[in-house]
Amino acid sequence: MMVCEYKPGLEGIPAAQSSISYVDGQKGILEYRGIRIEELAEKSTFLETAYLLIWGELPTKEELKAFEHEVRYHRRIKYRIRDMMKCFPESGHPMDALQASAAALGLFYSLRDLHNPVYIRDSVVRLIATIPTMVAAFQLMRKGNDPVRPRDDLDYSANFLYMLDEKEPDPLMARVFDICLILQVEHTMNASTFSARVTASTLTDPYAVVASAVGTLGGPLHGGANEEVIQMLEKIGSVENVRPYIEDCLQRKAKIMGFGHRVYKVKDPRATILQGLAEQLFEKFGHDKFYDIAQEMERVVEEKLGSKGIYPNIDFYSGLVYRKMGIPTDLFTPIFAIARVAGWLAHWKEQLAENRIFRPTQVYNGLHEVTYTPIDKR
Ligand code: SDX
Repeated sequence: MMVCEYKPGLEGIPAAQSSISYVDGQKGILEYRGIRIEELAEKSTFLETAYLLIWGELPTKEELKAFEHEVRYHRRIKYRIRDMMKCFPESGHPMDALQASAAALGLFYSLRDLHNPVYIRDSVVRLIATIPTMVAAFQLMRKGNDPVRPRDDLDYSANFLYMLDEKEPDPLMARVFDICLILQVEHTMNASTFSARVTASTLTDPYAVVASAVGTLGGPLHGGANEEVIQMLEKIGSVENVRPYIEDCLQRKAKIMGFGHRVYKVKDPRATILQGLAEQLFEKFGHDKFYDIAQEMERVVEEKLGSKGIYPNIDFYSGLVYRKMGIPTDLFTPIFAIARVAGWLAHWKEQLAENRIFRPTQVYNGLHEVTYTPIDKR
């Protein structure tokens, strides 16, 4: 057997063959199924992009209509899931509530018929349709309100914003939100997708696959960074405080949230698009002083760390967009999950098509031949 060198974080080690998405980290290019992210953000919708990722090609008019219809009519969650969510502590993080709810969904659909295309399609539709409802339901229930029923006359993103706020969103907000989902839906072998593929490789059900990926996405080094970015901007408080804050982080060797990426050595193309979306929202709904702080941060970090290839990543500007929409900070990562579930499911389907269980090796650096010490001699 070939012995490979140990690489912390598996840097540079391919974990799968995939035709779902592609990143060129030197040039700042991201493609889904070969289509540039900029073009999809301009012309596509989240559900169309999800279809492209999962089934490999852009849908025809009829295929898209059928998919949208199925998702629209599977948005409601079961009473028993709602009742279970009512028992969650209101102080709990919405990502934990989502992980538990996604896993619980599997209790209702335990067939696990992985070779059946109908089972695959139903699972995809159910997860994409119900995850936004679960996020919105927890948001209302933790405030002591009843969850709002999904509105069948509203599109995917407009319906989610409606369920959060109990009022129809402004059309620009709904379109911007939909573009954010397109930007967050997929990104090659990131940590949560790797987690999804490892779980999928055991041939468990897709609810367990998604629940494990949600757990992985939540950490501050991954999707959780978008929340931490806003907390950081709050802490900095003014443009003048940016430079001393960054200098202090560098001196303490602390990570600056929303910057750096394992693959991108230039600015993440998704950050550039998100920045443009934030500016559109500021133009229509008023400026956010945090944006001035963010721009100054980008300038100072480039000056100090640009030579190391550290630039804003997707999480740097997404929070500013969601903040302008009035979305609470701790829902930013669950929204990332609403988008990414389609990417995880594309990888689930691809993994099943040529499955072999993940079972890597390790470099053992422990002891051998140790004798057992009785408990009273320790
Ligand atoms: C996402 O992979 C994906 O695709 C993920 C994602 C997706 O779509 O799924 O794009 C979403 O998770 C975005 C990342 C969100 N996380 C953050 O913003 C947290 C802050 N960023 C970092 O912790 C870091 O850059 C990571 C986690 C994103 C990447 O970690 P790596 O590849 O393991 O890099 P590293 O920590 O080993 O850093 C390499 C060097 C170090 O310096 P040296 O020791 O070599 O001198 O770069 C420095 C680091 O100190 N560095 C930073 C930094 N990021 C890297 N220094 C200060 N601030 C930072 N943010």
